[in-house]
Parts: sequence; C-alpha cells; structure tokens
Amino acid sequence: MLRDSFGRTFPYIRLSITDVCNFKCGYCLPNGYMPNKSDNRKFLHLDEIKRLAKGLSELGVCKIRLTGGEPTVRKDFFEIVKVLKNESGIKKVVITTNGYHLDQKANKIVESGLDGINISIDSLNREIFKSITSHDRLEEILNGIIKLQKLNFNNIKINAVLLKGINSSENDFKDWSNFIKKNSIDFRYIELMRTGDNLDYFKKYHISSNIFKQYLNKNNWIFQTLGRDAGPSLNYINPEFKGKFGIIAPYSKDFCKSCNRLRITARGDLRLCLFGNTGISIRHLLQKDEQLEELKDLILKQLNFKKESHYLELGKTGLTNNLSSTGG
Ligand code: 5AD
Ligand code: SF4
Repeated sequence: MLRDSFGRTFPYIRLSITDVCNFKCGYCLPNGYMPNKSDNRKFLHLDEIKRLAKGLSELGVCKIRLTGGEPTVRKDFFEIVKVLKNESGIKKVVITTNGYHLDQKANKIVESGLDGINISIDSLNREIFKSITSHDRLEEILNGIIKLQKLNFNNIKINAVLLKGINSSENDFKDWSNFIKKNSIDFRYIELMRTGDNLDYFKKYHISSNIFKQYLNKNNWIFQTLGRDAGPSLNYINPEFKGKFGIIAPYSKDFCKSCNRLRITARGDLRLCLFGNTGISIRHLLQKDEQLEELKDLILKQLNFKKESHYLELGKTGLTNNLSSTGG
C-alpha cells in the first residue's frame, strides 16, 4: 500500500490523459485550450497507460480517475477505459468530464464498464452555464444524465465551482436542492482555487463555501461524519432527498489531512499534490514491461517527498497554471 511520511495512504490516482479541452471555463481556460509550445511531448499512449496502471495496481491502488482537460476528447478514450478495466488489475475506473456530447456518449459509457462519472455543471440555468463555459450545452448534458439513469448507471456525481455573484445565491442552492430531491446524484460545490493563470478571476469571484454551509444548516441537512478514505469532500445528508450535498473547500484548515490521491499528468509526470511544486517524470519507466519493478520503486521513493499541506493559504500555486493540465 502506498503510504506517505504523514501516514496518509493512496488507494486512488487521478490520471490526466490529455490537456486538451473543448470548453472555455472562465476560471480555467478562458481563451480555450492552447498547446504548450515549450512542451511538445505527446500525451501518454495506451500501452504506457496500461503499464502505469499495472504498476499502480501492484502498489495497492484500486481506483483510477481519468481526467483531462476533457478526457473524452481522446479518440481512444473508450479503449483506454477497457484496457484499464480488463487488463490492469485496477478495480474501479471513473472519470471527470465536462459532459460534452454526453447524450451521444451515454450508451458507450455504460458499455465500457466505467464505474462512475463526475460531471461538471456550474449552473442549472442555461444562460449562466453558457456564460461560464462558452458553450450552450446544458441541455445535452442533462439529457445525457437522463439516458445514463435509464440505463441504470448509478454512480453519477455533479461538481460546480462556487462563484460569487454567479451561482452562489439562495436560488442557485434551491435549484440544486430540487434536482437532488428526486435524483440519486450527489452534488458538490468546489471552492474556486487560485491558479497561476487566474489571479484576477479569483479576486473577483472567490467566495467562501461558508455561505453554502449556512444554507445547508438552515435547511436541516445533516453533516455526515467522515469515513476512512473518504477524501476531501464534506458530505451532508437529508432523508427527504435522494442525493447528497457536498463541499470541497481546499482552503479550509485540515483539508490536506484527508488527502488520498496522487496525480499523474497527461505527459507522464507524477505530481504529489495538485499545487505542490514537486513533480518528476516517470514516463521513461513506462516503455517496457520489464521496467515494472523500477517504476514501482520510483513511485514509492517519490512518495516520501509528499508534503503535509499545499500551503495555498500562503498564496502559493506551485506548478499549476490552470487545472486543465493536472485534471482538477
Ligand atoms: N478552482 C476550482 N475548481 C476548478 N476546476 C477547474 N479549475 C478550477 C479552479 N481554479 C474544476 C472543474 C471541474 C474539476 C475537474 O475541477 O470545474 O469540476
Ligand atoms: Fe475544460 Fe474543465 Fe477547464 Fe472547464 S474546467 S475549461 S471543462 S478543463
């Protein structure tokens, strides 16, 4: 089992398979995806991904989350899922997606054997959704969710980034409340994080998630105590609702104590923390099956360098210019 010097274990890896994204979210890629000219390495190939997953599985990792950018823009996306599910030893494979063409992809998602899907939907209001992402695609995403539900695909979560004056009013909270009343879908607000690129946006739109916490307290939502390996989301339940509410507040005290994930970028760098400035390439050890032991050794050694906290409260952003390169 992967364990760091602070006793945290890492059963969970977030693996970015592409930096490319087709959305232009204001807090992430306001001008759309632009290739990084100084880094012309290609994204990890299928066989590299397979070797990586095998190594990780032998280190006790049981769950991989595929992220991007937008992971489904990869032409071999479903092939990657199938290889991970059937040939790597990893038990659970889940994705985080912006929901692009979800209505068209729903069938294939179910067929591929994916174990769960996190969809980013910043607002249930069509105009607001469009203004944040630059895409008028709320409807296709919601239709995609209905399709998934009809196919009995149950592990669906929705994330929204909480933005002051945009999706942070009581009416917004009520919209989501109505939504999860009848859908067994968990909805979580993520507090806006400051990255290397978004300082002005952050200053303008960052708001503490306390405002949502107050709403939950006022409306009889009950804080669910954290289970082991619970991850960083604070969850709230209410017996009258099918779904749960959650809050991910990276600036809160003790956030890093429940960290249970490592990240690997689309070009094969191991990142110990989304915001940490420690990252080394492990790609050279993904070239041949015979390198498996060497790969495992390197990952184990690197884990000793994982820090106790991200120190975000000190205004540090580490290496992260925007979350499209490390997958949020
Ligand atoms: N702060 C918080 N969340 C962000 N995401 C992307 N950038 C940021 C940021 N700066 C979210 C996306 C998606 C997830 C992958 O990360 O909206 O839900
Ligand atoms: Fe794309 Fe996600 Fe960034 Fe939005 S937040 S631009 S969907 S990578």
